[in-house]
Amino acid sequence: MALVTTKEMFEKAYAGGYAIGAFNVNNMEIVQGITEAAGALKSPVILQVSAGARKYANHNYLVKLVEAALLENDIPIALHLDHGADFEICKSCIDGGFTSVMIDASHYSFNENIEITRKVVDYAHQKGVVVEAELGQLSGIEDDVKVSAEEASYTHPDEVEEFVDKTGVDSLAIAIGTSHGAFKFKPGQKPQLRFDILDEVSKRLPNFPIVLHGASSVSQEYVKIIQQNGGKLEDAIGIPEDMLRQAARSAVCKINIDSDLRLAMTAGVRQAMFANPAAFDPREYLKVGRENVKALVEHKIKNVLGSENKA
Ligand code: G3H
Ligand code: 13P
Ligand code: ZN
Repeated sequence: MALVTTKEMFEKAYAGGYAIGAFNVNNMEIVQGITEAAGALKSPVILQVSAGARKYANHNYLVKLVEAALLENDIPIALHLDHGADFEICKSCIDGGFTSVMIDASHYSFNENIEITRKVVDYAHQKGVVVEAELGQLSGIEDDVKVSAEEASYTHPDEVEEFVDKTGVDSLAIAIGTSHGAFKFKPGQKPQLRFDILDEVSKRLPNFPIVLHGASSVSQEYVKIIQQNGGKLEDAIGIPEDMLRQAARSAVCKINIDSDLRLAMTAGVRQAMFANPAAFDPREYLKVGRENVKALVEHKIKNVLGSENKA
């Protein structure tokens, strides 16, 4: 099967009340771990590449790794640019074989966001590539979510129809209280998401795919393994999986996960290195990281995304 866009994946996910996992890839073991899990569970999957991943691993290496994964697994795979900062990086990925790009102009004014996103959509659609954009900016939840300065970073539902109409974008990332990284809430703070905003957005955008960034759950099991093997991750807190499952049943069709992969890979490598401090064959410890990535993605597909047997 060739790479696909997210169009059909999202239509089916919306109708079926599940979501597609969008997992960040940076090297071969991560690509293998994710796609072996998705292949075994017959789940569609999105592999996403950040600017940092392109800098680390090189665009061509990542594209070829993903193409190799397609030869090994008979499932729909989309290759997506995560957080494209400007038109140029989006164009480079569109021209370079990606089937989906995100233009993240969410930190600009509403009108500038529309203008930049529209330019990317015009170019991408000519080439058969789909586009995700973002309205609102992710952040952690402060003690009182009703503080108006905090409110400013959540997506405003009254802006979404105009944004989608004027840009022609294919999916929309919204800010409802998730955040990037492994430290999403303060110690003792109750994890909370603004499902009221999600509901309001989906009412205003019927049948339109919504994207959740910053959706790692930060398994305390991996945190503990990392700590026990020389790492420091005190107070790492993620989004509870039952909240993500609830989101996946609604208009949310794409759930972004990177930090959980990092924790899984790092826990495996640390454990293997500590089990055998004399190890000097990278295969010995990368293999354990890859197995953890595979187990993590299987867990997400079954318990969070609901995308098993949807390929
Ligand atoms: O949302 C950001 C992703 O976790 C990618 O992170 O830019 O360090 O590759 P990165
Ligand atoms: P996490 O840091 O929660 O994994 O979020 C990843 C993400 O949103 C990538 O775009
Ligand atoms: Zn993100």
